[in-house]
Amino acid sequence: ETLQKILKAGKVASQVRREGAAKFVVGASALEVMDYCEKRILELGGQIAWAQMGINDVAAHFCPEEDDPTTLKEGDVVKIDIGTHQDGFIADNAMTVEVGSNNNFKDMIKAAQNALKATIKLVEPGRQLWELGEAQSSEAEALGFTTVKNLSGHTLGSYIVHGGISIPSYNNKDKTELQEGWQIAIEPFVTNGDGMIREKGKATVYMVEKEKGVRSPYAKKILDEVRSQKGLPFTSRWLTRKIGRGATALGLRELERNSIVKSYGPLVEVSGGTVTQFEHSMIVEEKARVYTRHDDDEW
Ligand code: CO
Repeated sequence: ETLQKILKAGKVASQVRREGAAKFVVGASALEVMDYCEKRILELGGQIAWAQMGINDVAAHFCPEEDDPTTLKEGDVVKIDIGTHQDGFIADNAMTVEVGSNNNFKDMIKAAQNALKATIKLVEPGRQLWELGEAQSSEAEALGFTTVKNLSGHTLGSYIVHGGISIPSYNNKDKTELQEGWQIAIEPFVTNGDGMIREKGKATVYMVEKEKGVRSPYAKKILDEVRSQKGLPFTSRWLTRKIGRGATALGLRELERNSIVKSYGPLVEVSGGTVTQFEHSMIVEEKARVYTRHDDDEW
């Protein structure tokens, strides 16, 4: 039954990722695409873990606010990262498209695909994590790029996005071995920049760290609104649409100050490099059971 839920989550996540990516065309509104993706997750019988994106040097964690005016331009390199779950069993997957027909970033897109593909081939019980990292960086370097060193894949748990073990994107000497049955997400980020990201700009993605009492009515309201996420991410736009901007801002500030909620700001490549990313979720078996692969995926 657990397996059925995981596979179902994968079906929904991969379908929505594909549909969302197909909407990344010149003039498309980022907000509208992300709203569409959330709606589709529910229509397909899934539950929303997150729908996020990143444009050009933003690797991830861009989640438009309710009035965000961002539209896509010719040549934008856009990542879509869709997370869905079934009763907490998570499917996490991502892909990159270049908007329009320039095809200037074909190789960098290919490099991230190659990195993911090569790494999946190595997944088996007993495989050491550094080997998965080495596979990613060497595929990136083969086409003249580098991986983003301070971003990594991760184990997945029930209602847990990051299960505590990181899957590196370079040889970090980590000799931890993959275990049969682990649920993992592998997500190489590839760049023509220095290969480091940092948080920059206004955060719109949040997670509840630990629930504890709060005095502010706004903070209480927010905790009520996001309780159903059970620790999975939420975005400020969900809140502003329900309780208004003022209440959202005040409540979030209070929750952050009390370390109840943590913000996750946009992740930006430090040297301004463009970033591409591909990601699949899988179960570690003799041969990786990739459960976010769409029929149209060639990786
Ligand atoms: Co992930």
